[in-house]
Amino acid sequence: MEVKKAVFVESNSDWRKCPKHHLPEFAFIGRSNVGKSSLINKITNQKNLAKTSATPGKTLLINHFLVNDNWYLVDLPGYGFAKIGMEGRNKLEKMIKDYVLMREELFNLFVLIDCRHEPQKNDLEFIEFLGSNGVPFSIVFTKADKLSKSRLVANVQAYKSKLQEEWEELPPIFVTSSESGLGKEELLEYIDSIMNATPDDSVIE
Ligand code: GTP
Ligand code: MG
Repeated sequence: MEVKKAVFVESNSDWRKCPKHHLPEFAFIGRSNVGKSSLINKITNQKNLAKTSATPGKTLLINHFLVNDNWYLVDLPGYGFAKIGMEGRNKLEKMIKDYVLMREELFNLFVLIDCRHEPQKNDLEFIEFLGSNGVPFSIVFTKADKLSKSRLVANVQAYKSKLQEEWEELPPIFVTSSESGLGKEELLEYIDSIMNATPDDSVIE
């Protein structure tokens, strides 16, 4: 799929106030600073569509971007951001979880994981939360340009092994870099395939 147009629509603190429409939404979630906003910019071929920062905690609202006039990318705040205090963290967590659980337009959630790190407790807990609530999600490793090829392969494999301790079947997994554009086409093709899947596609006969 080619992104021909992408525009910022609005920011909200509550899923109920988010744009009213019947188009599919694809949201990006993950720890603060993992690269959610950067990847949205890469996918949409724009430098500053989503605001990025080297300091964690840049995105603190639910941001809707309309792509090609027929689907939405949603940039969510990061979880686990320490500097806003317990009350702020709880508020953000509720904003994120309510959106994820209640938003009927959400077709798929991309959980972003920094490929440099070992599996982290709060990421694994969040994935567990998605699984137990039946939220469709995929895993997207970010910042692949920061590792050698062999290290990258080893880290992704270690992550898969960790997930397989809990999960019989792994979710779709993507490896990306917002620097090099690695994985961008695969993500767009995947989004396209979900949008074009008919309900019968999931029935195995
Ligand atoms: P919050 O909004 O704070 O939750 O963060 P975020 O997940 O949106 O991260 P953001 O896109 O703002 O990126 C955080 C930092 O990581 C920035 O300094 C980016 O330039 C850098 N970064 C993001 N993606 C990549 C990548 O693929 N490669 C490299 N080398 N740096 C990246
Ligand atoms: Mg952000």
